[in-house]
Amino acid sequence: MEQADSAEMTTGTMDRMIAEDNGNGGNETAALEIDRSLVLVGLMGAGKSCIGRKLAQKLGLPFVDADNEIEKAAGCSIADIFETRGEEEFREGERRVIARLLDGPPIVLATGGGAFMDPHTREKVKECGISIWLRADLDLLVRRTAKRNHRPLLNKGNPRQILRNLIQKRYPTYNEAEIVVDSQNGPPEETVKLALEGLKSYLERHGDSARTGHKDARFEVGS
Ligand code: S3P
Repeated sequence: MEQADSAEMTTGTMDRMIAEDNGNGGNETAALEIDRSLVLVGLMGAGKSCIGRKLAQKLGLPFVDADNEIEKAAGCSIADIFETRGEEEFREGERRVIARLLDGPPIVLATGGGAFMDPHTREKVKECGISIWLRADLDLLVRRTAKRNHRPLLNKGNPRQILRNLIQKRYPTYNEAEIVVDSQNGPPEETVKLALEGLKSYLERHGDSARTGHKDARFEVGS
């Protein structure tokens, strides 16, 4: 679980022109105008928090991890919420927290793997944000999630089998995201670069329509 810095939340502005290198190297962010939240979706282990944090840094936007915000609101860990209140209650809290965050100023938001499966959340993201699916293959997800055991869904059986089933179940829905980025096996910077490319193409294509919520094309980068 990554730490979100809620103090950062107050620093967002509605219109943001990143016109020069922000001190984090490279000029990939030149002239990227971000006036809505970027919402990272994808399975557990896809790298949403890690990539989201770095992306936020590049864009000069606050980073928020939805799982972390849910834990703060509940006063206990996700694992505890699943155990004592059940998954359904967790999902309700997740929906509320994400809606609240998306009603605020632009941020980079890493969501838990199940969040985008909720139709209300998907609608809210379409209305207020730009969705980026971090697509990853099974081996990568298995390898990354094996490092920690804090994810209740993966503690119920064979993680590889569980992740395989989740890929089948969820990938068609994640595919509704506006930008699709293949999570790379190498250093996170490689995936961040692809995400910035995808975002740039998206903004070039959508410009005004991104602000009004009408979108009709998707961008895929990586593979
Ligand atoms: C979940 C993913 C987790 C967390 C919870 C449920 C899921 O977040 O929200 O354990 O349903 O895929 P990460 O995707 O950040 O691990």
